[in-house]
Amino acid sequence: MGFQALITQYALSYPGPFAVATLLISYAVYRFFAQPDPLLVLPCPPGANFFGGHVPIILNPSKSPSTHHKFVKEYGRNIRLQGVHPWDNRLLPLDPVSLAYICKNYAIYEKPWQSRRFMSNLIGSGLLVTEGHVYRRQRRVANPAFSPQNLRDLVPLVFNKGEDLKNRWKEMIAQQAAETGEKGLKLDVCHWMSRATFDVIGLLALDYQFNAIQNESNELFCAYKDMFETAVSQSGTILSMISIYFPLWDKIFPTERSRAVLQGQETINRVASQVIQEKKARIREGEEAGKIYAGKDLLSLMLKSNLAVDLPESQRLSDDDILHNVNTFMFAGSDTTSLALTWTLLLLAKHPSVQNKLRAELCAAPPPDVTNDDSVLAHYNELAALPWLSNVCRESLRLVPPVHSSLRVAAEDDVIPTSTPVMGKDGIARYNFSIRKGTFVYLPMEGMNLDKEMWGEDAWQFKPDRWDHLPEAVASLPGVYSNLSTFSAGPRACLGHRVSLIEIKTFLYVLITNFVFTESDEKVVRANVVLTRPYVSHKFKEGSRCPMIVTPYVPVESD
Ligand code: HEM
Ligand SMILES: *[C@@H]1O[C@H](CO)[C@@H](O)[C@H](O)[C@H]1NC(C)=O
Ligand SMILES: *[C@@H]1O[C@H](CO)[C@@H](O)[C@H](O)[C@H]1NC(C)=O
Ligand SMILES: *[C@@H]1O[C@H](CO)[C@@H](O)[C@H](O)[C@H]1NC(C)=O
Repeated sequence: MGFQALITQYALSYPGPFAVATLLISYAVYRFFAQPDPLLVLPCPPGANFFGGHVPIILNPSKSPSTHHKFVKEYGRNIRLQGVHPWDNRLLPLDPVSLAYICKNYAIYEKPWQSRRFMSNLIGSGLLVTEGHVYRRQRRVANPAFSPQNLRDLVPLVFNKGEDLKNRWKEMIAQQAAETGEKGLKLDVCHWMSRATFDVIGLLALDYQFNAIQNESNELFCAYKDMFETAVSQSGTILSMISIYFPLWDKIFPTERSRAVLQGQETINRVASQVIQEKKARIREGEEAGKIYAGKDLLSLMLKSNLAVDLPESQRLSDDDILHNVNTFMFAGSDTTSLALTWTLLLLAKHPSVQNKLRAELCAAPPPDVTNDDSVLAHYNELAALPWLSNVCRESLRLVPPVHSSLRVAAEDDVIPTSTPVMGKDGIARYNFSIRKGTFVYLPMEGMNLDKEMWGEDAWQFKPDRWDHLPEAVASLPGVYSNLSTFSAGPRACLGHRVSLIEIKTFLYVLITNFVFTESDEKVVRANVVLTRPYVSHKFKEGSRCPMIVTPYVPVESD
């Protein structure tokens, strides 16, 4: 996830012993052994600090849009950035042809070992972490679980969670109205979306009820949540860097935090492993009885695809692999989706006319019979076809991609194609340039989504209308969903993007037809803490929050 960018940035930019060591070693290599870096043909904009280079200005969402814009206008679409020291050249490709090439050739452009180790220490070696044949084996087993057909069966379950959230909020609003007479309730929408999406992903991934919308006391829920929160708050600290570079450190000098992660992992191993064993038993019983077990959660589907008769023995996953991938879905699928929903609701609060138009469209769709799964599914198919809902979702995912950027490293020397000519050292312009093994490459999700030359001068504004008349240039942008970089592109793009769209559309339906969202008196700003999260301005110490006023929606009777 955005981890690649952040972790490696900090790992290499922290002005501590690591930076100094890398500096000295690189300088020695540079002076005595290496050929000049071929990346030197690319322009390098000013603005780099001696330590940290350009990294802080391209990763900070309050600066990155204008930074990217300036780069493209003044230096072209393939930029050489300075990493942590003057000889650490990195590539920032804002060129759709180059970026598509990099995403497609995922065997050359790997995830850096620093970020992979950080994540595998946390959730094990699942799809976010592995490379090579281990990765391909995991993806082959996981893919069928994410097919559109299988995901449709998950719709009723998502809808029911939306209903739970609606009922919970209605109770809270009624209680406040009884006590104070006030109808609008101030809620931290970010926190509630997180509870709701955790509930959904628990059911989807593991067929397990966290019931976090009701209360946050479930053991497995707390284990996952504490572990992820610890990791996020720890990212970028010098201690977390030490444990990446010296894995034994944590074992010799355990801290409160490393103990918390270990304890979480123990709970997860115990509880989730038990669920996996139970599932396997039920699938086996089903086979013996000649009836296929009907579980539709990702775990059951992965277990079934792992047992498929046409899968060679060497391609099957171990129970540990399965557990690590369940952890991966929990991690990759919870905060990302809850942030996408939170930002969408905040944008709707800031743009009441867009919210009203959406409510009118959603209220016109006949409501489903919530007790009947077929009816809920038919209803979702109607939602999926609604044009304004679709415009709103795309526009919000474009404007605030929860994964701000990612990072890769070239595993071999390569030549990258471009859409505009690059002037070579020999004075000849070519539609390609060379990159050396070991060079870091950024994947700029937000950078592509907000590009004014592609999307138009109004690219930084929230305008769901734009999707009815997109500029032609947009068609060339790489991305698995609507030419957006939000879910990345190529074979290693987000496996769960259809899952998150089902969640976003279903939740928007339930929430917008029942409540009105308005901004509170607290100003919300963006910050990149592993993901792009909301914070109350000048109150960063209070952690990620997104307060909004939620009021019940009362339809106006018309005759
Ligand atoms: C709005 C919500 C989401 C966003 C913005 C998002 C974004 C992304 C991005 C940008 C990547 C590529 C990361 C990289 O290359 O460094 C990714 C990978 C991935 N995502 Fe998502 N994601 C979302 C929801 C989900 C959900 C709901 C799931 C699972 C149920 C999921 C599972 C995964 C997995 C397994 C990968 C790794 C794929 C691979 O390497 O083959 N994501 N996601
Ligand atoms: C949490 O909710 C569950 C189920 O709704 C209930 O059994 C349990 O007692 C609740 N725990 C707390 C601490 O409220
Ligand atoms: C790079 O461009 C040059 C000049 O256009 C061309 O001769 C060469 O084959 C290209 N290299 C690759 C690997 O595409
Ligand atoms: C990108 O845009 C083109 C033109 O609108 C469209 O045909 C194509 O399907 C889009 N790609 C994706 C992944 O949506």
